[in-house]
Amino acid sequence: MVPTLKYKNTFPVEGGNFDNAGVISLQIKNIIRDMGFPDDIQRRAAIAIYESELNIISYARAGNINVRIAPHLICIDAADEGPGIEDIDRAMKDGYSTANDRIREMGFGAGMGLSNIKKCSDKFEIISETNKGTHLKILIDIN
Ligand SMILES: Nc1ncnc2c1ncn2[C@@H]1O[C@H](COP(=O)(O)OP(=O)(O)OP(=O)(O)O)[C@@H](O)[C@H]1O
Ligand SMILES: [Mg+2]
Repeated sequence: MVPTLKYKNTFPVEGGNFDNAGVISLQIKNIIRDMGFPDDIQRRAAIAIYESELNIISYARAGNINVRIAPHLICIDAADEGPGIEDIDRAMKDGYSTANDRIREMGFGAGMGLSNIKKCSDKFEIISETNKGTHLKILIDIN
């Protein structure tokens, strides 16, 4: 059965634009808060969206973050056009990062983002094609 959606929206993300880092995740976090979801759900969704947003900004040319909220489910799809991830298992490992100096100078590139997304998700899937792009599918169950 398809659950009734309470909210859906798609947010474009521009690759390389670090001035906007965190803008979308904060916006969506506020929407989830205003809908009355518990603090833990707000926190998990915000982290998952923030890390997805930062990875698109850091590694891809452009992307979209699509958010769908049903009464018992938050579904986040972060899809980009970019280099893709060649070895997903390696990218998932804590501490593995290909972040360049510019990214590291801004304090990113610890290699923790994807594993953080996984921790915050009830279901997490990465679909990626080299030289095409990456699609993260994130589900957060409510209660
Ligand atoms: N959307 C993406 N497109 C291409 N490569 C990506 C993408 N997301 C992640 N990667 C690759 O996976 C690696 C690990 O990503 P992860 O988010 O875990 O860490 P990070 O971005 O390097 O550092 P942190 O997120 O801790 O600031 C990245 O360094 C990059 O090589
Ligand atoms: Mg990251």
